[in-house]
Amino acid sequence: MNVLAIVGSYRKGHAIDTLVDRVLDGVRQNHPDAVVDKIHLADRHIEYCRNCMACKRDDPAKPIAACILHDDMDDILPKLVAADALVVGTPVNIGTVTAVLKTFLERACWTLAKPGHRPIEGCPVPRTAKPRRAVLVVSAGTVPPWLRWFCDDATKLLKSWCDSCLGAQVVGSLYAGAVLTRGVAPYEAKARALGRKL
Ligand SMILES: Cc1cc2nc3c(=O)[nH]c(=O)nc-3n(C[C@H](O)[C@H](O)[C@H](O)COP(=O)(O)O)c2cc1C
Repeated sequence: MNVLAIVGSYRKGHAIDTLVDRVLDGVRQNHPDAVVDKIHLADRHIEYCRNCMACKRDDPAKPIAACILHDDMDDILPKLVAADALVVGTPVNIGTVTAVLKTFLERACWTLAKPGHRPIEGCPVPRTAKPRRAVLVVSAGTVPPWLRWFCDDATKLLKSWCDSCLGAQVVGSLYAGAVLTRGVAPYEAKARALGRKL
């Protein structure tokens, strides 16, 4: 099994990085032979999408549409397409994913998707039919789990991207709330369990 972890946190060794590692521990428990790659987006050079729509207009038969920009997405997009399972982690910043993750998602939109008609004409559908599974991990500094649905737009956005751009089935998600006071220890067991589900 080919597992790709995308880390949208700006910090290594903190909440999201740690919880993504726990998910990967769980993956290895069930799949000791899993090939695991972890990408810290903040370490990568990823330019902003220019909305030129060259990718959207590119041949729908191509698994990855051409982009006019050439940066680290050239390396990351084939890894996304090759992955059997994804782990995507992000802090909740101002209610949603971090800026670096949003930049990545915009670049991994029409390059991985083609115009379809789900739910309306022109919406993205995956270019590839390979079955994939995904687990989402989000952390929030102050908002506790019971208030999650008032402030966590990150999980909804990531589910939508997994579905419409990669056709990845989200098999579980973790919301680590109030990590500034609670730390991540209360959430580590659930993170491992999610990894086993992958
Ligand atoms: C610019 C910014 C905005 C933030 N917005 C929120 C927020 O809307 N809700 C919240 O609970 N925490 C918020 N936080 C706190 C982060 O969610 C918290 O520091 C993060 O989950 C920790 O992840 P990390 O340890 O991987 O960096 C914000 C932090 C920053 C830097």
